[in-house]
Amino acid sequence: MSGNIPKNISLDSSLSLLREGYLFIQNRCQRLKTDIFETRLLGEHVICMYGEEAAKVFYDNNHFKRNGAAPKRILKSLFGEKGVQTLDQSEHKHRKEMFMSLMTSDRLSILNELTNEEWKVKSRDFENKNTVVLFDETQEIMCKVALRWAGVPFDDFEIKSLANDFGMMIDAFGAVGVRHYKGRIARVKTELWMKNIIEQVRNHKLKQANETALYVIANHRDLNGNLLDLQVAAVELMNIIRPIVAIATYITFGALAIHEQPDCLKKVQENQNNYLEMFVEEIRRYYPFAPFVGARVSEGFTWNNYNFKKGTLVLLDIYGTNHDHRLWEKVDEFWPERFVNWSGNRYAFIPQGGGEYLEGHRCAGEMVTIEIMKSSLDFIVNHLVYEVPNQDLSYSMSRIPTLPKSRFIINNVKRK
Ligand code: HEM
Repeated sequence: MSGNIPKNISLDSSLSLLREGYLFIQNRCQRLKTDIFETRLLGEHVICMYGEEAAKVFYDNNHFKRNGAAPKRILKSLFGEKGVQTLDQSEHKHRKEMFMSLMTSDRLSILNELTNEEWKVKSRDFENKNTVVLFDETQEIMCKVALRWAGVPFDDFEIKSLANDFGMMIDAFGAVGVRHYKGRIARVKTELWMKNIIEQVRNHKLKQANETALYVIANHRDLNGNLLDLQVAAVELMNIIRPIVAIATYITFGALAIHEQPDCLKKVQENQNNYLEMFVEEIRRYYPFAPFVGARVSEGFTWNNYNFKKGTLVLLDIYGTNHDHRLWEKVDEFWPERFVNWSGNRYAFIPQGGGEYLEGHRCAGEMVTIEIMKSSLDFIVNHLVYEVPNQDLSYSMSRIPTLPKSRFIINNVKRK
């Protein structure tokens, strides 16, 4: 098939992907001394690549499309069907504009206020517990923040179970078997709930402010002037709430960095020269979360003498690009100061995808993620004191998504 692209000789690499997880693409690129190779995954020829140049071509809309790229198992658990992730061209741009309209600076300020409020409320409970599992508690905080910000009504007593459902969808990403099916079931249940709420907004039984995601999505019209199909609207509303819940993973890694990197605590507390933001950027670069993104070749083309045949599935390695020696100094060190003179590079630093927001599929919630991480980590270092008991803080590179194994336990939490 694809010209002279180096080949990973194997009948099928699916089991190796499960075994090697975040390092699957990097391991083969290092072994074959290349930034691109061809392999078979689940019986299909796939091209894998990494690095800035690879990201530039991957995010060129003339070459790639998303329709038909995500496997059914991901659509049934993590993404949902017919959402923005699966759209191309003008249909994608129109839907993406809807998402980006929710990310104004006013809306981000409200999000920061909500985040602070919910940390304050939750931290009162922390004082009454001997032991707090930070990841689980943060997931609940994020779920509450997400629902309030999106304008979705809920009862407080449901939050644990709702956070758990969103958590299961996220956890299903790289999973097979039980973990995958838990994610599917959680999605079916949550989509029903979201459909019902959107219907209430459309029937004027539930009034919500015009700026909320619930209102905007319920009333969004496609390029033909039609309201979104109820199911699709539910998927898109969940595309706002679920990833906010997912920020709990980055916050947990942030707490780990504060614990493991001796200078960080003081520097984050003092936040001189925007240290907190650099710290947040380094968490997004250093720790593994989204492993790779996939797209299909829309029309055959040649890049660097390699032939990309129409229809081929191509995976761009996110983790590998953020850990590419050609792009990053001291690549395997946690070093927030690397961002001091960072001018931004849409293709080298891609924890939430690369390229452009409107023209491409770059994560619509990148600013939301950065703001919530800043507010949350600021709260943790400046408003809480706690002890970190002995526990297994290691994280597996083969489990996608990964997390410190103990989920970060803290003891004797007090508010400052
Ligand atoms: C928790 C941290 C997050 C990570 C690691 C993350 C990662 C990503 C990645 C890798 C993509 C795909 C990029 C591509 O296909 O090229 C993406 C897309 C997307 N993300 Fe995020 N994301 C996060 C948080 C958020 C938040 C907080 C929101 C919303 C509030 C959000 C909404 C979206 C949407 C709507 C898309 C689809 C964009 C499109 O297809 O045009 N994400 N994200």
